[in-house]
Amino acid sequence: MDVIEAIKKRKSIRAYRPDAVPEEVIREVLEAAIRAPSAMNTQPWEFVVIKGEPLRKIKEECSRRFRAGEVPEPEHQVVGWGNDSVYRSRQVELAKQIFHIMNIPREDKAKRTAWTERGFRYFDSPAVIIITVDRALTESSPLLDLGAVMQTICLAAMHYGLGTCIHDQGVMYPDVVRRHAGVPGSKRLIIAVSIGYPDDENIVNSITTAREPLDKITRWVGFDGVSFN
Ligand SMILES: Cc1cc2nc3c(=O)[nH]c(=O)nc-3n(C[C@H](O)[C@H](O)[C@H](O)COP(=O)(O)O)c2cc1C
Repeated sequence: MDVIEAIKKRKSIRAYRPDAVPEEVIREVLEAAIRAPSAMNTQPWEFVVIKGEPLRKIKEECSRRFRAGEVPEPEHQVVGWGNDSVYRSRQVELAKQIFHIMNIPREDKAKRTAWTERGFRYFDSPAVIIITVDRALTESSPLLDLGAVMQTICLAAMHYGLGTCIHDQGVMYPDVVRRHAGVPGSKRLIIAVSIGYPDDENIVNSITTAREPLDKITRWVGFDGVSFN
């Protein structure tokens, strides 16, 4: 697949076929992804790839904790915006888009909760890649590098007909993953990437999310034409 085509076609996949992804394929995805750049080639990323019975137990326990209303204790804060910010508006737009396509009315709390729970079940993906980082590194310094490898995983996966969903829901109860996957306390769990063959029959996968117009977020300097103002 052409690079631009892959970048434009990538989207978050929130429903998967149950088919297992061969280890060899995930290995090839990760081998490609670790060609991502990092500051001074520090390569701060590490991966925990989970499938089968351990993943089933993690999904089960995370969704149970969510249902019980247990407060998540993520080791990396994804949410950091105010309720009156444009970032919050974009978040709300996404939720509206998902609930609309899933035919879940605003007032149907049970259905909304059931939807949210799907994330804690890793959207039923047959495998997940958890990206971790050593605690020897400061909290913010490796994040750009981790973002680069995260996106490269998603793009490389497409070459093999795989879909992905990056989600912090999968690391919101980090102790669960830590226990079932044997991740030592010296590693910080940053993000989960669900991976598997997309269920094209599920309407949730048909969502294409919006983007701000490029010229609203770009200042062109020294070019002809109208610039950002
Ligand atoms: C750091 C990060 C955390 C995310 N966490 C979640 C999540 O917990 N649940 C979820 O459904 N999607 C999650 N997403 C997916 C975003 O909602 C998605 O990337 C965004 O809406 C744009 O849609 P697209 O990926 O289909 O282009 C996350 C994405 C990123 C980059």
